[in-house]
Amino acid sequence: MKLLILNGPNLNMLGLREPQIYGSATYASLLDKIKSYALDKGIEVDCFQSNHEGALVDKIQEAYFNNVDGIVFNPGAYTHTSIALLDALKAVQLPCVEVHISDVSAREDFRQQSYIRPACIASIIGHGLEGYIEAIDILLKR
Ligand code: DQA
Repeated sequence: MKLLILNGPNLNMLGLREPQIYGSATYASLLDKIKSYALDKGIEVDCFQSNHEGALVDKIQEAYFNNVDGIVFNPGAYTHTSIALLDALKAVQLPCVEVHISDVSAREDFRQQSYIRPACIASIIGHGLEGYIEAIDILLKR
């Protein structure tokens, strides 16, 4: 099994950015956590982060051509703005689990809309970094 772990803008700043919201663990430690879990479960993970919407679209398309089995996706702020990411997910029809570290449902109005949600099989919201592991488990169980 091969999964794409995709992170959008500013998630590379984990540990530095608003620790009261996102915690003090760094992006590098998130990658360590995901990679060691994947090793344990015998799955292959490709972890990719970009601050650019088009690069995320390219990566979703690439996942289709590389026979990836599923996507764990935290699109950051693009969650609330990007029809291009929704269309990319709809185009490839790969099972995708949306992840948000913070509880976006309890935050600003502009964070209440997720454009990608209709193309996702599940959403894990507000479970911190553990949310990525839960998302992998959902894809594993399919
Ligand atoms: C986020 C929530 C988004 O609203 C925000 O723009 C992010 C991170 C989260 O993981 O909680 O960058 O996706």
